[in-house]
Amino acid sequence: MTHKIAVLPGDGIGPEITEQAARVLGALGLDLEMETAPVGGAAYDAHGHPLPPATLDLAKNSSAILFGAVGDWKYDSLPREFRPEQAILGLRKALGLFANLRPAILYPQLANASSLKPEVVSGLDILIVRELTGDIYFGQPRGVREVAEGSFKGERQGFDTMHYAETEVRRIGHVAFQAAQKRSKRLCSVDKANVLETSQFWRDIMIDTAREYPDVELTHMYVDNAAMQLVRAPKEFDVIVTGNLFGDILSDEAAMLTGSIGMLPSASLNASNQGLYEPSHGSAPDIAGKNLANPLATILSAAMLLRYSLNEAAQADRIERAVQAVLEQGLRTADIHEAGTKLVSTSAMGDAVLKALK
Ligand code: IPM
Ligand code: MG
Repeated sequence: MTHKIAVLPGDGIGPEITEQAARVLGALGLDLEMETAPVGGAAYDAHGHPLPPATLDLAKNSSAILFGAVGDWKYDSLPREFRPEQAILGLRKALGLFANLRPAILYPQLANASSLKPEVVSGLDILIVRELTGDIYFGQPRGVREVAEGSFKGERQGFDTMHYAETEVRRIGHVAFQAAQKRSKRLCSVDKANVLETSQFWRDIMIDTAREYPDVELTHMYVDNAAMQLVRAPKEFDVIVTGNLFGDILSDEAAMLTGSIGMLPSASLNASNQGLYEPSHGSAPDIAGKNLANPLATILSAAMLLRYSLNEAAQADRIERAVQAVLEQGLRTADIHEAGTKLVSTSAMGDAVLKALK
């Protein structure tokens, strides 16, 4: 059976890193049909919209999306609906990609890259399960209005709405509990239940969902404390489940614990395991087109694509082993380069991974 994969390179370093990941996918001997379409600022420039209808159609009709990165400071002054970020938000919403898996793994070969003490982070391997289509990100109403009463009556006021429906909490709960079952069977749900009604509701539903997973130990933590514990003792976490906004912040923090955000993949899945796969890092416009970027996060995202959307776990393992092998060989792009290792370009790193595929 042919699998259709939409390749959406996007902006900045997006095209160079997706090119390497697509080469790796293409070398596995699988029956894949890859089709490329513009997204983000590149799509705005070419078609006047960050997520043109043809790109959205391609994404909808594919088993999986290999996504590069979007964004460039030159689009910052555009009205919000035309900004590159709207492409990623639009894809998440249109495809119902509610489950965002963001692993933070510290590769032993890169142990010096973290700004934390080696003993605090060595062997770090945590998974953040972030809800991705609800919360204050998409809640209505939102906007700017006139304050109707109270001390600021008559002034303009910016506002957003935080809410979670029961189904939204339960379904991300199931994803997280099932991920925990495959790992250490420990799940920490992060919320702000001491202040927010939405969070208290989230916590109640998580506790209820836990009854279906008696083998998993569920704990709860307030988000401010979680932010502290992540830098104090990150290895005490295994799987974290949290809402869209808290997950946005904590997943960047977790990524930085590893010191090598250029290595971290992510997956965003819907109920039918259709998924969008992208590196955790951004579009890095300052180094775009220079063949300097680290393609490994995108190559590892392609591995997640094989595992979650194409059910090709063995092929995913193959890619992950190849990435380990190139790190073992001492090859490093500029972002992870240190004395005693060999500095290589984006394309040379891609070549090395291809060669290391066994
Ligand atoms: C992310 C990004 C996005 C988000 C932006 C680009 C809309 O920060 O994927 O974490 O906030 O979700
Ligand atoms: Mg973010």
